[in-house]
Formats: sequence, C-alpha cells, structure tokens
Amino acid sequence: MVLDYNQIKDKKDIIVYIGEINKVLSLLPEGMVDCIITSPPYWKQRDYKNPLQIGQENSYQEYINNLVNVFGRMKKILKPTGTFFLNVGYKYKSKELLLIPELLAVELQKNGWALLNKIIWFKPNAMPSSLDCRFSNVYEPIFLFVKEENKYNYYLSLDKLRLPISNLTIDRNPEDILGLEVKNSLLKENKLKGQVINIFKNSKGDIFAEVLWENKKTTIELVQDFSEESQLPVELVCQGCKKIIKNEMDINAHYICKEFPKPILPPQPDLSERIELKPSVLFPYINSLTKQSKRQDYKGKFKLSPDNRGASPGARKSLFGEYLVLQRRYKIFQSIIAEYLRFWRRNGGITTKEIDKLLGYRDTAGHWFRRDTGSWGRGGSIPLPNDWFRLKEILKFDALYDRWVTETHLVLQTVKPHPKGKNPGDVWSIKLQPFPEAHFATFPEELVKRCIEAGCPEGGVVLDPFAGSGTVGKVANDLGRNAILIELVPEYLNIIKKRCLNIREVIYVK
Ligand SMILES: C[S@@+](CC[C@H](N)C(=O)[O-])C[C@H]1O[C@@H](n2cnc3c(N)ncnc32)[C@H](O)[C@@H]1O
Repeated sequence: MVLDYNQIKDKKDIIVYIGEINKVLSLLPEGMVDCIITSPPYWKQRDYKNPLQIGQENSYQEYINNLVNVFGRMKKILKPTGTFFLNVGYKYKSKELLLIPELLAVELQKNGWALLNKIIWFKPNAMPSSLDCRFSNVYEPIFLFVKEENKYNYYLSLDKLRLPISNLTIDRNPEDILGLEVKNSLLKENKLKGQVINIFKNSKGDIFAEVLWENKKTTIELVQDFSEESQLPVELVCQGCKKIIKNEMDINAHYICKEFPKPILPPQPDLSERIELKPSVLFPYINSLTKQSKRQDYKGKFKLSPDNRGASPGARKSLFGEYLVLQRRYKIFQSIIAEYLRFWRRNGGITTKEIDKLLGYRDTAGHWFRRDTGSWGRGGSIPLPNDWFRLKEILKFDALYDRWVTETHLVLQTVKPHPKGKNPGDVWSIKLQPFPEAHFATFPEELVKRCIEAGCPEGGVVLDPFAGSGTVGKVANDLGRNAILIELVPEYLNIIKKRCLNIREVIYVK
C-alpha cells in the first residue's frame, strides 16, 4: 500500500509502518519528508531477535555499509531542502574506542550527504561509572546532514532554539557612548584605557568625544558613524601620471612612476566648534579612576560626580561588553608606505638596526620597510601613529602621508547578537529520560523537540526510520507536525500506540 502524500500533508497525524526498513522505504514516494530524525540500533548493542535487524553484523564495517545503503534510499524520500539528524552512539571493542559514529558520518559524506554539524549531546545524568581505566563516556554525537546537492539551500530555523541575549537594546545614538570604556590599541606597549566623559558634535554633524584616559590626560577623539565602515577607504592620485589608485592591484601599475601617490583625504573635521550632546548626564568613573589619588588629580568638570555605573546608558552597555576602540581612521596600502619609507631611509643612509636602536626597539623597524604584508606574520607592517612621528624625526620625511597614517577615530566594538537571540551552539545538555517500557535507549523528548523545531517547518512531515518506542512521532505531534514511523519489531507497536495518540494508520509491510 502506498501512502497518499496529499492526504497526510495538511493533517498532523502519524502513519506507522511495521516492517523491514529497506522494504518500507521502497514504498514511500519521493520527496515527501521534511526532516529525518533517527537513532539506528548501535552495533552489537542490543539484539532485537529479528533476522532482518540492523546492528548485529559481524563487523562494524558491514554495519556501516548497511546503514549507508539505508540512508541512501532514505535520501530519495527526503525533500531537496530537507534535514537529517542522525544519532549514533560509541562502542568499545578490546578496550579501544571504535569511532563508529564518525566513520559512518564520513561514509555518508562520500555518499551524497553534506555534514553541517556534529552536535554533542551531553547527558548530565549519564550513568555513574566505576571504570578506572579511562574516562567514562557521557555524550553522543548527533550529526546534522543535508543533501549535498542542496547544501546552499535547505530548511533550517534556529529561531525557536535561540538563547536569550542579555543585551537587547543596542540603539545607535551617539549620545549613548557617554560613559563607555575606550581602549587605545595604537600604542606599542601599555594599551591605554579611558572613558568617554563628554560627547559633542559640530555644525557639519561630526561627532566627537572627550576621553579621560587612565594617565589622567584628556583627549578629543572623532567618533566613527556607527553605520559606516570602521576604516575608511582612501583613493590616491599618482603624482606622476595623475591616475587614481583605488586598490593594491592599481599600485603595481605605478611602479614605473617616479612620484609617490598622494592620498585624497576628506577635510579634517573642525573639532573646535562644540555643541554638547546630553550635557546633564552623570558619568561613572572607570574602576581605575575611582581610586582616590587619581580622582584628586582629575580636574575635569565632572570631578564631583557620584560614582554610579548605572547613571548613563553608555555605562550600562559597557557592562554588556560594548566599548570603543581608538583605531586608524583610514585603510592604508602598506606597500606604498614601505616604498616611501625605503626612499627616505636610503636618502638618510641609515639602517633599520640603527633606527631600532634610536627608537629603543628590537626587530621592529625592519618590518616597516618590507612590502609583503603576509598573514603569516613576518611581513611588512605600518608604523603606529606615535612611531610614525618619531620615525619622521629620524628620516626627516615630508608630510605627504602623515594624516593617512596617523589619523584615528573611535569605533564602537560590540558582539552583535542576533536580534532574535543567540545561536544555541552545537553542545546540547539534555538529560536522559528513562522509559521503562522500552528495553532500548529511547530519545529524550527535548532532544527530538530541538531537532524538529530546527529542521521541520510547522505542518511538515518528520520521519523516523528506526522508530523504536515512537518518541519522534509523539513529539512531532505535540509540535504540530506529521510523522512517519518505521519499525521492524511488531511488539513495539503497542508502546508506539500508547505514546502517539494520533495514529491514522498502521501499515504492515511483509
Ligand atoms: C535504538 S532503537 C530506536 C529508539 C528510538 N529512537 C526511541 O526513541 O524509542 C532502534 C530501533 O530500530 C529497529 N530496527 C532494527 N533493525 C531494523 C530494520 N532492519 N528495519 C526497521 N527497524 C529496525 C529496532 O527494532 C529498534 O526498535
């Protein structure tokens, strides 16, 4: 008997097939299932006393082959966009861990399945073990596969599984950075911390912040628009041929030109014109500044403000991991800077070792003259703004690249959470749920729930080809999904019936 797909499509009901998996699969129409969730018998774990059973093969290689074949058949029944959650447990033989789940997963990868995840199902209430020859195994893997040919286009929704985020309000008002911690990462040693104590704008709309640093100095820093790139791209004009250089590729074409290309930078913002934003908000001192000694040294206008971390939204945000970083304002082509510095070093007739010595460094200056910025770390680098000016005193170069290399701005750093919550990750801690009626390990309902909510749209069809006690059917029904269950052993039907109240049909396949 063949199932009428259209009939079951809109009903949340269950069809149970009692029979051997391969035979049943050959009856099911192609592309009818949205999501497969299953746990086949583990190798040599439990004898289901049926000649057609899977799991009692002489070798685990044979067992893996059998499962690969079954899942190959099953693939046709899965929709192109469908998902397949496979749970297989570990087995030891002669003291050795066999890694059967992984070996099976690799075979499935070779047979048309794309592996998206190996989820670790950690069992916090796993059986205590008296073993003292190794660590006891307290997890099982759950592999999430999709069809290889559809690996860029499948159904998976994490929304129901997302974890709550502590920082829900990330609005983007410049005023809200008031009180936020600032880090200066542009210093070779002693990374400096500070705090925004004032925030201004000018009539052109530039935002800038007054930062009180740990060393008790205050500076005025430009704040990069939250919606813009953190480093601004810059075009250069070749002073020789007058052509524009937009990227590293263009630079190569200008090696024949004698002149250095000139960066086309926007006018410097006027920081003297200050319209204060949110002037009345109290600001908290950063921890190190609350120390009485430092506090007394600080002469700013908030000297008497109470130390209250909750006083400004910025302060609250800093508690949630938001802070500002002082970084270079422009993207710089390192090769151009290196070429320029080489020219001035040749002019000055000085070696990189001598430069290092003058600056009090070891093996640093050499990198500034190398043109190969490599991800392996031994390539060229651009001098930090402070070093640039110190180097300038030594090499006496002109001001051509001063602004490009040394201008900085503050960039908001934040771990951007998904607006609907955090990704739940691939380690799931789910307690084992003892189920006395079945003599084999049953799925905990929570585990099936997660798989269904992620892998099967509402009203869709879930398949468990090794149904056992029918946990998948029960949970699918609870969640408004249809289910197809396949089980070899007829005796288990009673358990399935008790758990799944919505069985529309039981079909025996001989
Ligand atoms: C580990 S149990 C599944 C337990 C299930 N996840 C649950 O929550 O109850 C594996 C099931 O596969 C069935 N099985 C074994 N060989 C089979 C075969 N060739 N065809 C169909 N089912 C088979 C066994 O009878 C057993 O009930």
